Amino acid sequence: MLFDPAHRLWLLRGPTTSYAVRLAEDDSVRHVHWGAPLTLAQATQVAERAAPAASSFEAVAGVDELAVEGGARFGPPSLLVRFADGTRAVEWRYAGHDADGEQLRIHLRDRHYPLRVTLHYRMPAGTDVIERWTTVENPDDGAAITILRCDSAAWAVPHRPAYRMSHLTGGWNSEFQLRRTEVPVAETVLTSRRGITSHHANPWLAVDDGTAGEEHGEVWSTALAWSGSWRITLHRDPFGRTTWTGGFGHEGLSWSLAPGETLQTPVFAGLYTAGGFGSASRAWHGYVRGHVLPHPGETRPVLYNSWEATGFNVDEAGQLALAARAAALGVELFVTDDGWFGDRNSERAGLGDWVPNRVRFPAGLGPLAAQVRRLGMRFGLWVEPEMVNPDSDLYRAHPDWVLHMANRDRTEMRHQLVLNLARPDAAEWAHAWLDRLVREHQIDFLKWDANRPFTEAGWPGHADPDRLWIGHTRAVYRIMDRLRADHPGLRIEACAGGGGRADLGILARTDQVWASDNTDPVDRIGIQHGFSQLYPAQVMGAWVTDSPNPATARRTPLRFRFHVAMAGALGIGGDLTAWTADELKEAAELVAAYKEARTVIQHGTPFRLRGDGTLTAVEYRHENEHVVLAWCPSRRFGHQPAPLHLAAVQADAVYRNRDTGATHPGALLLYSGLPLDLPPGDHASALVRLQRLS
Ligand code: DGJ
Repeated sequence: MLFDPAHRLWLLRGPTTSYAVRLAEDDSVRHVHWGAPLTLAQATQVAERAAPAASSFEAVAGVDELAVEGGARFGPPSLLVRFADGTRAVEWRYAGHDADGEQLRIHLRDRHYPLRVTLHYRMPAGTDVIERWTTVENPDDGAAITILRCDSAAWAVPHRPAYRMSHLTGGWNSEFQLRRTEVPVAETVLTSRRGITSHHANPWLAVDDGTAGEEHGEVWSTALAWSGSWRITLHRDPFGRTTWTGGFGHEGLSWSLAPGETLQTPVFAGLYTAGGFGSASRAWHGYVRGHVLPHPGETRPVLYNSWEATGFNVDEAGQLALAARAAALGVELFVTDDGWFGDRNSERAGLGDWVPNRVRFPAGLGPLAAQVRRLGMRFGLWVEPEMVNPDSDLYRAHPDWVLHMANRDRTEMRHQLVLNLARPDAAEWAHAWLDRLVREHQIDFLKWDANRPFTEAGWPGHADPDRLWIGHTRAVYRIMDRLRADHPGLRIEACAGGGGRADLGILARTDQVWASDNTDPVDRIGIQHGFSQLYPAQVMGAWVTDSPNPATARRTPLRFRFHVAMAGALGIGGDLTAWTADELKEAAELVAAYKEARTVIQHGTPFRLRGDGTLTAVEYRHENEHVVLAWCPSRRFGHQPAPLHLAAVQADAVYRNRDTGATHPGALLLYSGLPLDLPPGDHASALVRLQRLS
């Protein structure tokens, strides 16, 4: 970090990028530069070129790093407050800065009111990612301050004729659909008002000037590390300024900051890359591995999950039958899904009563866990700690523990309500039973689910009920953190009815994410493509299930299902008791093939290769090893997929196919393409492993 006191300008530098801010005359912090590397002197020159206001209607020149209400500011504010006397505008006074190796903190205070704010910037060593967050403090000498909005950060990109945004949208069974659209001259809001990250939008956004491609062009992208409601507002004004501000909570919430209290936002991380969307994804993946995930070096086990095979029809004999077949396939972790506890015979009852169902598991979970281990697998269990069925002993004992509002219905979704884990008693209860469960059975893996959004999110009797929107998510984090600290071998999969909770916040305390309940391999290609924009293959849970697929009724060959699921952390979720001997044999061979390839897939660097629209493929490189997965869902008569040109090979090197022994000059792989042994017809796929020989 460099500081120019004369110009009151700070410069942060990563390996291939730099970021500069300065203090304006009114002591607000202004954006200067985010992009290619600049020297301090160059950044100062950029700062001096700030465009003058266009008219008397546009008084503030430049872009605030954390815009407030007050002065001639008319864009979306990042920080909105109301003081006890009704004043809303903020006027800053610079209160110093401090910095250590990676972090810069710029301190501001209001000129009149007891409000202090710190803008935090951190560039973790070796990355170009800038982590930004904000702390707001009400020093211990005034009245409460109402916080109407407190974003983590606002971002700005250079003035260009046009910008395009890439974002992820979808719904249940169709998460992570990548959309690219021109940024309109307007305010565009990406948000979740659901109390979870959501299937419908993911808190990631990439902006380019419309010319970037997979492997070329400047891309500015940001990702919010938060697993509850959130909002990102992108603003392009008629004069070409393009900015966005984002943070936790959605519009309309407020909370009271008591004297002596501090509010800290989650991290909103930003990344500039000059090598297209592919290089942005690779840099994000590197950051997730290096600075977010708890155990990035671990190879994710091949898991089996019982959900699609049994639904709620879970019992000891059925699970043992599945476990025996799973072990024979080479599965390393056996996970019993929903249905093992309470009166959980359907989605109507039992949620909240976390003791094994006495009819289905007469001797508890002990015998199942022991047999799974004897079969050489680890044992995992599904839980949904944030939810309750009204038809449960828990709800009958604590009807006031759920989110609810006086004089309002309690809207049920999937026959369940949301527990208010912002309540210390409810959170303590959740931690206690989870801790007991994990301890008693040495559970290796929890699949932590959350199958509905918040509604009637009230907290009757609490003076500041909107706090629950933040407090609930923080309680989830605290429980996970405590469990992990007390049970170092425990691994956690994040799930919210499929991919409703994938974000950098949850990934800091989980090991993988269930990306979607849609296990149809054709649909999955698109879901996985969107997921891979930000999140690495290592964290993407992907199962092979039955054909026809239960969600889409599409029939696909086993090999195609496996090859698509191999692009992440492979799992199997089909009803193995119904698979034929031939299918089981082929599945065992495919599991073995995945194990040969997974170091490269899970720990390597991905290159999304696109063919002619018929063929989609990803190449992973790890040291001298390459894995290519190629999928061809359908093709018309006479149309062969165009050759698949690899991206991550050297022209002057030679590559050997690890399975066939054939050798390929790198130049041909780059310019002529990789020969693919695709079977005829629809749903064709290939897995190719290459080793660089020289
Ligand atoms: C939703 C999850 O995404 C499924 O995999 C399964 O765990 C069900 N919940 C169980 O209720």
